[in-house]
Amino acid sequence: MQRIFSGIQPSGIPHLGNYLGAVRNWVALQKDHDCIYCVVDLHAITMWQDPAQLANQTRELAASLIACGIDPQGSILFHQSAVHAHTRLAWIFNCVARMGWLNRMTQFKDKAGKDREAASTGLFVYPNLMAADILVYHATRVPVGDDQRQHIELTNDIAQKFNHDFATDFFPAVEGVILGPAARVMSLRDGAKKMSKSDASEMASILLTDDADTIALKIRRAKTDPEPLPSEPAGLEGRPEARNLVGIYAALTDSDHAGVLRVHGGQGFGAFKASLTELLVDKLGPIATETRRLLADRATLEGMLAAGAARAAAISTPIADEAERLVGFLKV
Ligand code: TYM
Repeated sequence: MQRIFSGIQPSGIPHLGNYLGAVRNWVALQKDHDCIYCVVDLHAITMWQDPAQLANQTRELAASLIACGIDPQGSILFHQSAVHAHTRLAWIFNCVARMGWLNRMTQFKDKAGKDREAASTGLFVYPNLMAADILVYHATRVPVGDDQRQHIELTNDIAQKFNHDFATDFFPAVEGVILGPAARVMSLRDGAKKMSKSDASEMASILLTDDADTIALKIRRAKTDPEPLPSEPAGLEGRPEARNLVGIYAALTDSDHAGVLRVHGGQGFGAFKASLTELLVDKLGPIATETRRLLADRATLEGMLAAGAARAAAISTPIADEAERLVGFLKV
């Protein structure tokens, strides 16, 4: 069985992009894969996080993942800082990856913004830690949204250079699993920008904890154009906001753009937005309720994470040990 690994940052409440681009696929892959899912708190602190909030956000995200359908018994669910093999391998990768490679990472450029001198050095080496997350389990398939494509390529570059430098075939090739019509969900306010936890406008994203009224308001305010929906996907060309809403609808109904347009083509946005709202409330409502239920029993939730961390450590510690041996560290 191929091993799956993926991660998500506890830097805020997960949004519809995280759900449709990644978590929903994580849930589906559990059926026939050995899956490891991680709340990446080490990655979260590459941008400032309030220490009083970080532990809460970690619990909330774990609860939300279980509510979405991640099975903490069948799969392994844990938080990154609890398993030290990640940072051990990340340090080695800091010495394998080249400055030039990291300088090309678009996510660093986006997150650092104009003032790169003020960005944390952790943000710069973020992709090395991500490569370590995956490779410290010898995972070969990584379900992510489209924005992580470049990081997966870098993971392969790092694995290959490690294998070459240390004359080994220790690290396997890794494949990004980027699936479905919502692999890149865009902001509801701007069809050219991806939906993101860091967006200044609350109206740009739907959060997994939003109630029915909030969802209805955000969809009503979502930017659109004056034309009715086309009857075929070619008609979405040059209409990024329309394309985004159709993609969201398609993902939520396990369909594709063509399937949604066969039913809703010709409709104005008033009617389409009403159907989309109903669908979202239907799908997200139970997730929010279940998240609240899980959070009410903190001891059980933390017990699940601790058990997940122990299982994750049992797989990753020997792999980090062997990587250190290959590098030449004295083992006594
Ligand atoms: P993060 O926390 O930003 O996002 C978690 C997952 O959600 C996907 N995603 C989206 N998909 C579609 N549309 C969007 N607007 C959207 N926004 C986010 C992301 O692609 C991601 O799959 N670097 C990763 C976390 C990470 C990781 C890993 C992932 C750390 N280590 C190892 C895979 C393997 C990140 O920042 O995710």
